[in-house]
Order: sequence, then structure tokens, then C-alpha cells
Amino acid sequence: MAGAPMSTTPHSPVPPFLSAPLPMTLPRLAEKRRLHEPIVMVTAYDYPSAQVAQEAGVDVVLVGDSGAMTVLGYPSTLPVTTEEMLMLAAAVRRGLQTPLLVGDLPFGSYEASDEQAVSTAQRFIKEAGCDAVKLERGGTSVERAGAIVQSGIPVMGHVGLTPQSATALGGYRAQGRTAERALAFARDALALQQAGCFSIVFEAIPAAVAQVLVERLDIPAIGIGAGAGTDGQVLVFHDLLGIYDGHTPRFAKRYAELRPAMVAAVAQYAAEVRGGSFPIEPEHTYSIDADELERFRQGLGASA
Ligand code: KIV
Repeated sequence: MAGAPMSTTPHSPVPPFLSAPLPMTLPRLAEKRRLHEPIVMVTAYDYPSAQVAQEAGVDVVLVGDSGAMTVLGYPSTLPVTTEEMLMLAAAVRRGLQTPLLVGDLPFGSYEASDEQAVSTAQRFIKEAGCDAVKLERGGTSVERAGAIVQSGIPVMGHVGLTPQSATALGGYRAQGRTAERALAFARDALALQQAGCFSIVFEAIPAAVAQVLVERLDIPAIGIGAGAGTDGQVLVFHDLLGIYDGHTPRFAKRYAELRPAMVAAVAQYAAEVRGGSFPIEPEHTYSIDADELERFRQGLGASA
């Protein structure tokens, strides 16, 4: 509040606003890379997952098109629409204050032309409040990335296993395991950097290849299944927490197994409702004075 006296406890001499985490910016991300401070990125798809990411203190939140599978139940990332992604991203925005918010451009929303790419990217900024967008692949995506950057919107690239083109890549499998394929990814990554991307995701490529690429790049590389040599890591929220029941890749370390706990809690609720033991505890019900209840009964009788 403007002009309000600053309150500090005897044990916390630092004013609260000075100790609060600063919002993540592109220069701060670049600085983290320079200082070899690992960058932490996680996906989120709604208000509660955004709040969890915020409280956990991550640096970057991606509204990934993986949400097509993890929260919308599609069999792949391909069917998700821009409208659906915008709804997820706007919910994440409402739960997030400090991490950089990146929106994933869904399949079919940016590939056709620079105009299409810029117009979709603008919707993620204007309608969902994202700070930046991400797109997949090299090739024509390099031009699209350049056009979006020229329009003033920061872009994150994504090479290696790019799920939007998984069929063309031979399925959901590790990429860049031959010198030719690794060289192709190096060319894509360098071209994306040249186009102005502020960061690039490396997905499912050998750690040694990622390490060499990191040394050649000037921008932060965020890895998922790319070893420990990248400037940061990203994991899918539902994989990390053990919520998703579909296939999880080997690189997705599970830090919790929440799904069995969620099923057990809902099953216990169902059993208690069916067995009549919920809701009978006083703390879960509202009371009314006995005389008010009697007057209510009489009122009903009189009006019957
Ligand atoms: O959609 C997604 O979640 C992603 C990350 C795996 C990088 O693209």
C-alpha cells in the first residue's frame, strides 16, 4: 500500500518486498546461463498447477501442448486447438506471478505462413497473458520463429524429439543418435538462435550431443531427456507428480505418486457416502437453533 509504514518482524530485518522473488525476465534467464545457475522449468495447465509451480519457486512455466494428453485426454498433442490452449494458458496466468510464462503454439496454428504464426503468437500474449511462445522443429519453423521475434514476441525453440512431428520422426523415440541426425539438430538449433530465439528445448537426444550443442550456443538450452549438461531442465507436471496414467518416457523422473493417493481418497469418499458415514460430523454440517427449526416446521404446516 502506498505510503503505508513498512512492517518487519524482529527476526526478519529484510522488508518483505525485498525478499520476494523477482519476476523472471529474458535478461535474468541469460544471466542464469552465464552464471551456470540451472534454470528450472515445468509445465502447468490450470490455476492450481500454476500456483504449485509458483510456490515451488520455478523459473519458467510452459503451458505445453502435452496438456492435450495430460489434461484433455487426447491420444497425442496433434488435436489440441488454439482455443483450448488459450483457455489453459489464461488459467495458468491467473495462478502465476513470478515465473516466465511460455505458451506452446499447437500443431497447425503457425506452420502455414509467417502471418499465421504471428497472429497466433499475438493471441497467446493478448488473450492469455503469456510472456513468450514456443514452437517446434527447425526447417520452416525457423522462419516462423524469426517472424514472431520481429513482431516483438519472445520465442523459445524446440528440437530433437518434437511430438508434433513424431510420426515423421519414427515415433516417440530418442533422436540425434547418428552423426548426421545430430548435425541436423545442430543446424536447426543454431538457425533458431540466429532467428532470435531466447532459448531452445532439447528433447530426447543423447546427453553427449546436447553437451556439444550447449557449448556452441549462446542462449539457454533447456533439456528434457537430454542429460545434465543443458542450462536447465523441464518436466511435464503430471509425469513429475505421478498423476498421468498414460505412457511416461524413461527420462520423466517421478518425484511423487499422487494418482494412487487421489484414487484412494475419492474411493474412500464414495464408500463413506454409500455407507452413511459422510457427512455426519458436526464440522461438515450447518446447524439451526431448535426453536427456529420448530418455527420452520410450523410455517411449513401452516402453509400446507
Ligand atoms: O508440451 C510440452 O510439455 C513440451 C515440453 C515437454 C518441453 O513441449
